Formats: sequence, structure tokens, C-alpha cells
Amino acid sequence: MEGDRILLTGANGQIGTELTIELQKIYGEDNVIATDIREPSERISRFEILDILDSSKLDAFIAENKISQVYHLAALLSSKGEENPAFTWKLNFDAYIKLLEIGRDRQLKKIFFPSTIGIYGPTTPKRDTPQNSSFEPATVYGISKFTGELWSDYFNKRYGLDVRGLRYPGVISHKVRPAGGTTDFAVEIFFDAREKSSYNCYLKAGTRLPMMYMPDVMKATLELMHADRSSISTSMAYNIHGFSLSPEELAAEIKSYLPDFEISYNPDHRQAIADSWTESIDDSLARRDWSWNAEYDMTSMVKDMIEQMIK
Ligand SMILES: NC(=O)c1ccc[n+]([C@@H]2O[C@H](COP(=O)([O-])OP(=O)(O)OC[C@H]3O[C@@H](n4cnc5c(N)ncnc54)[C@H](O)[C@@H]3O)[C@@H](O)[C@H]2O)c1
Repeated sequence: MEGDRILLTGANGQIGTELTIELQKIYGEDNVIATDIREPSERISRFEILDILDSSKLDAFIAENKISQVYHLAALLSSKGEENPAFTWKLNFDAYIKLLEIGRDRQLKKIFFPSTIGIYGPTTPKRDTPQNSSFEPATVYGISKFTGELWSDYFNKRYGLDVRGLRYPGVISHKVRPAGGTTDFAVEIFFDAREKSSYNCYLKAGTRLPMMYMPDVMKATLELMHADRSSISTSMAYNIHGFSLSPEELAAEIKSYLPDFEISYNPDHRQAIADSWTESIDDSLARRDWSWNAEYDMTSMVKDMIEQMIK
């Protein structure tokens, strides 16, 4: 790890806000540079504005700062991405190809690429979704991330670039209120429970989706990135699973702590996206290759979220 200099793109989002701190603990504050197109809400010791669409600036930034690893988080998520598919492709895919080329030409040590359960589609098996399956994503987000995975693998096989990826499920956390994803309800529900003791859910009852609590998201990301390369058998992205939940199961668990809490349902366009995704994930390859094991289930996640946010 000595001599490593880390760049995070899209660092002000739900995941980057927490990953920056975890990486600083490992590599030191001076060696981790958080970047985004908007200023962070809280002060970060090393932060710079950097637009990933400006590939010459990205290249110069990587060279000038002697970056050795990139955690490439900047993207438009599933729901927001549908508003402007062509732009989403440009941001999620075109900018990623440029980064892969920079990684090859500047001989970066490692690149982290976050993929998603959004790569699954109506033809993917809904339960225990296998690592390799039928992928016909229903959103431009899913298409851009799946194609990104294929290009990660291509750059690894053709140029030896060490690219590693995870197919994150819906991420639940309490520091940042997310926007633009289809699994946001699992976070919004806690903010609304705290603010008004009720939540109007944009998905209907019975919609079960795979989720993961942020401490496990950090654990998976860091374990994968620090695993010996010889144990990594795919440069696409690994399936990882935490737990599955539906809005009413989550609401019932919250109600056990906050008896006045009520949930109502008013499904919108995100229902169709959620319906195209799967319910649970077979993550046996990650378990086999780098000993992945989630620590939180729904019950322990809700207990901790309530303690952190409400009680
Ligand atoms: N949060 C989840 O549930 C989830 C699930 C699966 C995959 N992921 C993936 O993980 C990554 C991080 O997700 P997140 O939830 O933190 O996303 P987020 O939307 O919270 O954050 C994305 C960040 O990217 C920044 N950004 C947008 N355009 C940019 C540009 N041109 N240049 C630089 N930065 C730009 C935004 O300002 C934002 O801070 C994404 O690639 C996402 O696809 C997230």
C-alpha cells in the first residue's frame, strides 16, 4: 500500500461520502483525493472539482497527482438516468472507456468499477440470480453498467489492466439521503420515519429487492480491492448479496421500534424498473474467491439505522 495515491470520482454521493473516509483510514488523508462536480456538504481534507466528462483534464489530474488507483463512482443512477438516456450513456459509459484508456496508458495499479443489480432484466432468474446469466437490462443505466463490465474484462484480458467490480444491490445508509435510484425507498423511509412518522412509498407492497447495509458495502469494496489478484477470477463484477426486503417488511420492522409509524403506497414509473430486477442473489463466486460474507441482515440493519438516526 506504500506509495499508493487514490482518486475517487463522484465522491460526494451516497457511497463516496463514506468510502473516502474508509480509504483515508487505510492510505492516509493526504493520499486520498475526493473529486466531484459539486462541492461536498462537509469539509473533506483533500477535495477537488473534477468533471469525468473532461477526459483530458482527468488524464492530466491523474498524471499530476501521481494517482495509482481510481475508485470510479460518478454515474447517473437507474431512475434519473431514464430522463436523458443519451447523456446517461455518455456519463456512465463513454467517460468510463476514457478512464480505462488512461488506466492502461498511465499504468494504473487498480481501477474499481461499481456495477449494479440494474444489469439484470426480465429474462434473468429472479431468485438466487447466478453470477453468469441472461442479462437484458430494462434501463440505460443497466445497459451502460453491463457494457462497462464487458469493457473492464476486455481491458484486463487485452492489456492486463487490474479492474475489479461489484454488482451492488440497493445500498442503505444514514449519512446521505439518496436520489435517482430505484431502491431509494429503503433509505427515504428512515428519514421520513424520523421527520413525520409516515412514508408514502413509490413501489407497491410485495416488491422484494436485494439490499445491503453500508458497513457491508464498505467491507465488500475494500476486501475485493485488497484481495490478491491471483484469487480474482473475473474482471467483470462480482454478485454480492446482503438481504432481500419489501417495503411492507421494512415498515413492519421499523414499526417494532416506532409504533406510530405508518406506510402508504403510490407506485410510480420506478415500479416497472423494480419489477425488471431480481429478488435475491447467488454470491457464491465472491464467497469462494475472496471469502465474502455479509454481516448485516434486515433485522440488524434496522436496529442500527434506528440507533444512528432516531434514538
Ligand atoms: N447507491 C446504490 O444503491 C448503488 C447501487 C448499485 C450501484 N451503485 C453505483 O455506485 C456508484 C456510486 O453510487 P452513489 O449511490 O454514491 O451515487 P450518487 O448518485 O449518490 O453519487 C454520484 C456522484 O457522482 C457525481 N457526478 C455526477 N456527474 C459527474 C461528473 N460528470 N463528474 C464527476 N462527478 C459526477 C454526482 O455529483 C454525485 O455526487 C455509482 O456508480 C452507482 O451506479 C450505487
